Amino acid sequence: MPLLEIKNLTHFFGGLRAVHNFNTTIEPGEIRGLIGPNGAGKTTVFNLTTGVYKPTQGQILFDGQDITGKPPHQIGKLGISRTYQNLRLWGNLTALDNVKIAFYGRIRYGLLGAFFGLNGRYEEERRIDQEARELMALLDIEQYADMVVSGLPYGIQRKVEMARALATKPKLLLLDEPTAGMTPAEMEETMEFVLYIRDKFNLTIWLIEHKMRFVMGLCSHIQVLNFGEIIAEGPPEAIQNHPEVIRAYLGTAVT
Ligand SMILES: Nc1ncnc2c1ncn2[C@@H]1O[C@H](COP(=O)(O)OP(=O)(O)OP(=O)(O)O)[C@@H](O)[C@H]1O
Ligand SMILES: [Mg+2]
Repeated sequence: MPLLEIKNLTHFFGGLRAVHNFNTTIEPGEIRGLIGPNGAGKTTVFNLTTGVYKPTQGQILFDGQDITGKPPHQIGKLGISRTYQNLRLWGNLTALDNVKIAFYGRIRYGLLGAFFGLNGRYEEERRIDQEARELMALLDIEQYADMVVSGLPYGIQRKVEMARALATKPKLLLLDEPTAGMTPAEMEETMEFVLYIRDKFNLTIWLIEHKMRFVMGLCSHIQVLNFGEIIAEGPPEAIQNHPEVIRAYLGTAVT
């Protein structure tokens, strides 16, 4: 059974058709790529998948369940997590606190804890602290845990955001331009990192990227969007030399 299946997804922003008849089937463990020129509709596809927008038309099935039109927190609980094209971290908080934020959605003490003393809460708080630090250690960023996030190198901030996305124990992780703003060396390192987290956390990964070396090196199957429609798809070799893809990127170097 595929982990994610999207059928005939269409989305309008007013009169603008941002996504038109988008289809995909992603198998567990896969690293899947979504590419296309600026404004092609890539982020919108992710926003529809995570419930930020309700699709105008179409169906999204995740892990055998119809999640079409469900709100983001429910979709998150079912096991889809993401990072953003523009980092969304709390700049004034420490790296650790940014990761811990993701754990609070799973807190157990609830209302009863508020009535029946603080012990449960302290216990829960300590557990979250420990789990967040362990997660950061796995990602090799534990040394930054207590530093304010806005002062950290960009590549590390990206890792903090990934740690936060992993805290909810997702099955499917969506990465929207994970190497935007990175140096070539940081990009190489991120390629290794994506493979590492895929294996370590048993993930399926769906990623958007403009850097062809990154996409071609990681993905087994790539879909190309242009003006909201899929214009090509297949393995990296087929995409690289596809005339439609070259035309869509004309004026932009395919590197
Ligand atoms: N909330 C919104 N309201 C209105 N129009 C939107 C909204 N979000 C996106 N769009 C428009 O939808 C189209 C697709 O945008 P989207 O952000 O999905 O593109 P993208 O492929 O992610 O581009 P980029 O590579 O620049 O990130 C664009 O024309 C964009 O201006
Ligand atoms: Mg985008």
